[in-house]
Amino acid sequence: MVVIRREPAVVAGEGDAAMATKRSTGTTRKPTAKKAPAAKAAAKPAVKKKAVLAKAKPAAKTKNVAAAAKGGTAAKPARDVGPPRPNELREWQALERHKTKVEKLHLRKLFADDPQRGKKLVLETGDLYFDFSKNRITDETLKLLRALAERCKVRDGIRAMFAGEKINITENRAVLHVALRAPRDAKIVVDGENVVPAVHAVLDKMDAFAKRVRSGEWKGHTGKRIRNVVNVGIGGSDLGPAMAYDALRQFSQRDLQFRFVSNVDGTDFVEAVHDFDPEETLFIISSKTFTTLETLTNAHSARDWALAKLGDEKAVAKHFVAVSTNAKEVAKFGIDTANMFEFWDWVGGRYSYDSAIGLSLMIAIGGDGFRDMLAGFHQMDEHFRTAPIEKNLPMTLGLLGLWYNDFFGAETVAILPYSQYLDRLSAYIEQLDMESDGKSTDRQGRPITGYQTGPIVWGTPGTNGQHAYYQLIHQGTKLIPADFIGFARPNNDLGRHHDMLMANFFAQTEALAFGKTSDEVAAEGVPAAQVPHRTFRGNHPTNTILVKRELTPHVLGQLIALYEHKVFTQGWIWNINSFDQWGVELGKVLANRIIPQLESKEEPKLDHDSSTNTLIQRYRKIRRG
Ligand code: F6P
Repeated sequence: MVVIRREPAVVAGEGDAAMATKRSTGTTRKPTAKKAPAAKAAAKPAVKKKAVLAKAKPAAKTKNVAAAAKGGTAAKPARDVGPPRPNELREWQALERHKTKVEKLHLRKLFADDPQRGKKLVLETGDLYFDFSKNRITDETLKLLRALAERCKVRDGIRAMFAGEKINITENRAVLHVALRAPRDAKIVVDGENVVPAVHAVLDKMDAFAKRVRSGEWKGHTGKRIRNVVNVGIGGSDLGPAMAYDALRQFSQRDLQFRFVSNVDGTDFVEAVHDFDPEETLFIISSKTFTTLETLTNAHSARDWALAKLGDEKAVAKHFVAVSTNAKEVAKFGIDTANMFEFWDWVGGRYSYDSAIGLSLMIAIGGDGFRDMLAGFHQMDEHFRTAPIEKNLPMTLGLLGLWYNDFFGAETVAILPYSQYLDRLSAYIEQLDMESDGKSTDRQGRPITGYQTGPIVWGTPGTNGQHAYYQLIHQGTKLIPADFIGFARPNNDLGRHHDMLMANFFAQTEALAFGKTSDEVAAEGVPAAQVPHRTFRGNHPTNTILVKRELTPHVLGQLIALYEHKVFTQGWIWNINSFDQWGVELGKVLANRIIPQLESKEEPKLDHDSSTNTLIQRYRKIRRG
């Protein structure tokens, strides 16, 4: 089943852009020649749209990319038909007009005008207290942003996702990471089958295996117990477990060591295992497709490394397990499919670490810890699904991000956790957000023009960032909205450390919002020549997520689901498919062409551009002598 959004939104004969103009100017303008087909088509019955969507089948992928790589023309993807684009909606245009008023306001004034602002613009759910008062918004802004979300039918999108509808339209797949954390008695049907029992069957199998490894019952080929676990995977098959293991290492079994190998650079593998004994090492080969070049290359090196000491092919069964949707390829690699942990095509790679992809994490923190994390995810899922928009934390986070991204021209979002355990959080959210919403084609296959989609995501834990790049956030020329994530309780209560950390946490959002005027600087006796340099204009927007306790598996689940659903909210409003990632394919195809050109003994015939040809020739000369 394919979900088509917003069909009834436009009345035949009057496109939304025209309606918006009518409202703002008092006259009706005809849609421009360029916009006319879109407006017209939007008024047509759904049949036509179905035909357009049906065109975008995944089978076209490799052919089109290969054709494009050769300089050929890919199948014509776009037709200017479909619902109005978000920026043609009157709600969007109302925000554009509203922005011209808000941009003149300073947070200093907004707080001075309403002493209760810091108490009013907050939301709470589960363990999260969310203060969004230090944003460049008024009550009117929130009203208009929420109206946009309503108009774009974000609720319908949420319902469709949770119902297992195939909202990943270019791959014709359901998007059901929420099923991975659904309780045992839940029912979520995909293609006529309730998927929840299968989810729990895999969780139970993981749990049983994790118990055996943790207890030492699972022995290596030579009878030694497993001391080292190496996850081999990349992208969503690496970032999630690696981030979560770092985040939750306090809850991990400390006599086991965990490492994560992702890069095809041999250094990654060599360094990961340099002090490990193959007899005590278990490899988890994690790959949804089990065809990913980096992962397969690392997996083969791991097998060579292990067998060099263990000798016998039979050792593979004791030292290698797989997590994949592709049993055929797993078997081909030589891993017994009895030692394969399954997941499903309705779990996107970047949404998968709470599936079997989290096996390494489950071995680290145990089945109970893992389930506690899933319960945290589920709690946020339920909040997202059921809370009204005014109380909905992921929707609010998404709408605020969209406000700066689309109306203030902000290009990035900084994720700034004040927890060393969240060292890898922004790397994880990079993939989650940028692979999901880094799109320039809308759901109807039309090129996106006139509005922005996904932001650039970056960041590192505070307070390190404060002594590095915060200078630019405070005094640079760019607008950098930032999410500050801090914890009311420390995980490691060491002397004064936590209060110092949190003092910095609170100080930064205060400084960013209110700055320091030149009068204030001069009044401190600063020499006149230095005053402009030491002035802080402030008015930098931040969100504060204050977790009401320390970082736990349950809290981590809530945080990650919060960002997943933020990404969903934005992607739905931008009318893009947040669940495919065709943009990564071209580079893969080209790399596969180049590999034999680097490896061949004879001088290859190169037919790239002059830059690529010369670079390859230089490389060959240096490498091959
Ligand atoms: O190349 C991008 C990507 O497909 C990601 O979406 C995915 O998480 C990663 O590669 C790894 O893919 P796999 O799990 O199939 O090895």
